[in-house]
Amino acid sequence: MSDLLNTPNTDIQTHTEAGVTTITLNRVSRKNSITAGMYAAMADALVTAAADASVRVVVFQGHETIFSAGNDIGDFLNASPSTQDAPVFRFLHGLSDFPKPVIASVCGPAVGIGTTMLFHCDLVYAGDNAAFSMPFVNLGLCPEAASSLLVPQMMGYHRAAEALLLGEPFMVEAALEVGLVNRIVPPAQANALAQAQARKLAAKPLTSLIETKRLMKSGQAARVTAQIKEEAVSFGRMLSEPAAREAFTAFMEKRKPDFSKV
Ligand code: COA
Repeated sequence: MSDLLNTPNTDIQTHTEAGVTTITLNRVSRKNSITAGMYAAMADALVTAAADASVRVVVFQGHETIFSAGNDIGDFLNASPSTQDAPVFRFLHGLSDFPKPVIASVCGPAVGIGTTMLFHCDLVYAGDNAAFSMPFVNLGLCPEAASSLLVPQMMGYHRAAEALLLGEPFMVEAALEVGLVNRIVPPAQANALAQAQARKLAAKPLTSLIETKRLMKSGQAARVTAQIKEEAVSFGRMLSEPAAREAFTAFMEKRKPDFSKV
């Protein structure tokens, strides 16, 4: 029997069945770019899933053609997250601290936080059309979600520099090679694979899952939290600086940004 929880924000759909809460980004017309309201809905869904003893696993999924275009750039212009309790940071801390297993099913582009959130997921299954990018520098910003710590750790410093300084995208094969992705499948099979793996986890003792995840993460949990906070201070400041304003305005005006004067 399925139980559809209608979160107030319909761009995020939360569905719980057989011990698995599935959070779906459902704003395909805007390429699943994420607004403050969507971050708030996802943060709330994580709080609910953590507290509900019947929930053992969370799955994030997007659409077969797009995982997420990252933060909504109009929101960046008009409703910048300026404090540590802004919905985006509530979501990031909720995900990073989430005690139960989290799986992501990723198809199509995963931009910005669409990629950085994956470093906090325990398992990532990807469609063969998945592509990853963290173009913060191209937007006059800096990394978030502790990606300045976790990306070099996983990919090695020089590959991280291509991704974070040059803002170059990388394809799903590279993501598999560095260990960001567990398995590549045809896009139409990614969600089903994520659900099948979630069901396997949901059949295991929750106490063991929670303790194993805690132990795997405990070595640097405090450091990750501190890095998210430090990045948020810089990110919040840079959002209102000239480089970012030029990048956002250029995106909205569908032109290339001109950083020559900033
Ligand atoms: N914020 C707001 N709107 C966005 C968006 C975002 N992050 N990403 C896409 N959109 C909008 C586009 O402006 C476009 O709107 P329009 O129909 O009014 O023109 C619509 O969604 C479709 O996007 P489009 O760029 O035409 O789709 P695409 O398939 O050609 O490209 C992406 C998909 C994801 C590669 C591309 O949209 C993109 O690079 N988006 C910006 C990503 C970004 O820089 N995010 C911030 C990271 S911090």
